[in-house]
Amino acid sequence: MGRPFTFPGRTIVVTGGANGIGRALAERFLAEGAARVVIADLDGQGAARTAAELGERARAHTLDVTDAAAVAALIEEVERDAPIDLWCSNAGVATGGGLGSDADWDLTWRVHVQAHVHVARLLLPRMIERGGGHLLVTASAAGLLTNVDSAPYSVTKHGAVALAEWLAIRHWDEGIDVSCLCPLGVNTAMTAGDGPTAATRLGGDYIEPADVARSVVEALGEGRFLILPHPQAAVMEQRRASDRDRWLSGMRRAHKRLLDAG
Ligand SMILES: NC(=O)c1ccc[n+]([C@@H]2O[C@H](COP(=O)([O-])OP(=O)(O)OC[C@H]3O[C@@H](n4cnc5c(N)ncnc54)[C@H](O)[C@@H]3O)[C@@H](O)[C@H]2O)c1
Repeated sequence: MGRPFTFPGRTIVVTGGANGIGRALAERFLAEGAARVVIADLDGQGAARTAAELGERARAHTLDVTDAAAVAALIEEVERDAPIDLWCSNAGVATGGGLGSDADWDLTWRVHVQAHVHVARLLLPRMIERGGGHLLVTASAAGLLTNVDSAPYSVTKHGAVALAEWLAIRHWDEGIDVSCLCPLGVNTAMTAGDGPTAATRLGGDYIEPADVARSVVEALGEGRFLILPHPQAAVMEQRRASDRDRWLSGMRRAHKRLLDAG
């Protein structure tokens, strides 16, 4: 277990905070007593709308997480007032299915992996210098298991999990706590178009963003690395680890059943 995170009085940044899971995280962090939550999103209008709805302790910022200079400028601006205690690297993108185009690979790599590298380079040294800090990476159960629909999504989310683990190991002694959020299906704009054969359905019923936020607050309070808002994800991961060939056969059968039923 890591060091527990407490919310009252804290300064928190949530990327992709305008909508879905990020918005629910921001709302819940404020309810837990955070002093300030910065909602940083490529969708600047959405960020402004969400911040206005969440009240005066929420602030909006237009940010492209793939732009290192913009991330540096945001850190600088926020820390002029107070140090950032928790950075939630939550922004994410869905691409089309299949093996994907080069553009899909490029975008998902930059948003799901490289964006977290920017934060590690730019914010962690500041946190280390002042004795510690917390980083939350929103990966996905697709990064622990696999998403049968989209190769770029699945592979880059595996990259996000691997990077989160690397950071958690390498920076622990310097006071850095890392948590990695790995939900199965969640009802957000990202999954709104999912039809009956969407591979995410293999994980069972979708849950609400507020359920995810509750799991995150619980896990950060316990200083836990892996956050699985769907309990079945833990069982699936254990099955995968204990017998990979059996797990792959099960996935092939389950995917075929899904396609046949659709
Ligand atoms: N919805 C699910 O079923 C599910 C499951 C597992 C993991 N996730 C992950 O959860 C995270 C949040 O997704 P969501 O479901 O809330 O989707 P969402 O589409 O509701 O929210 C994603 C947000 O990220 C923002 N964004 C996209 N690219 C950005 C960029 N370059 N810079 C800054 N912001 C950017 C979008 O504007 C949007 O507000 C993502 O990382 C996603 O991959 C979602």
